[in-house]
Amino acid sequence: APAAHRCSYEDYEATAKWLGSQTEQRPKMAIICGSGLGGLAEQLENRVVIPYRDIPNFPQTTVVGHQGQLVFGTLEGHQCVCMQGRFHTYEGYDVNQVTYPVRVFSLLGVRTLVVTNAAGGLNSSFSVGDIMLIKDHINLPGLVGNNPLCGPNDDRFGERFLCTSDAYDCDLLALAQQTVEKQGIRASVHQGVYCMVSGPTYESIAEGRALRTLGADAVGMSTALEVVVARHCGLRVLGFSLITNKVVTDDRTLKANHAEVLVADNNRAQDLQGLVRGILAQMSVD
Ligand code: HPA
Repeated sequence: APAAHRCSYEDYEATAKWLGSQTEQRPKMAIICGSGLGGLAEQLENRVVIPYRDIPNFPQTTVVGHQGQLVFGTLEGHQCVCMQGRFHTYEGYDVNQVTYPVRVFSLLGVRTLVVTNAAGGLNSSFSVGDIMLIKDHINLPGLVGNNPLCGPNDDRFGERFLCTSDAYDCDLLALAQQTVEKQGIRASVHQGVYCMVSGPTYESIAEGRALRTLGADAVGMSTALEVVVARHCGLRVLGFSLITNKVVTDDRTLKANHAEVLVADNNRAQDLQGLVRGILAQMSVD
């Protein structure tokens, strides 16, 4: 495991201050775009694009299908900052690096976090291309010691012992469900539980079955860590998974692979973008 990468409050502040000097935009909403889902960032108006390599203290992305830049701009009347490309522990980053941007956003004034990801479907009623509204998560790395809130607590961000039973905002989830009904896409959208694993291996058959038994509807290699840190600093969270493949739980001749994940993204990313925009259009701008 990589050495713990501790960040001080001053590091986060320095990054936020630098970003604040690059644009006059002060977004209230941050959107983390998952694998192949960066298209949302292309739709912002008045775009200000800042590559991660230019940002003090920022990690860099290394995965195909993930760009590496922040995009500031307006979407459906909301000032937003989008992460086009996120950080994963399987790249070798530790949990503090993976979640670094979330605290920076909070210091910039962000109050709401929208997270998207590509995920494998565990619930047998899910089809490839479906969307899952995340109602809860199983932070598997976090449960066994790889939690971004391990270590000294900085009260300026949040409290020592964080409640996560309310991690995914009920009001935002209800608004999302209303928008699903309005857009007539109910048949391909489900609510469910997202389980985070560290990856980069896709699940063995026994692992896939185990995760289903634990109560997960979808599995992926991101999101839960960012959500925990977002909740720690008081952000409201709305999360989406795009089901890019079915997790293999019986047939050994089926194999999950990254190419399949990216193809499914291309086909259905538009629908997810349309849903997110529809929800934002109904959200009050605060
Ligand atoms: N497993 C884990 N992560 C994933 C998968 C999967 O099947 N698909 C996309 N991300």
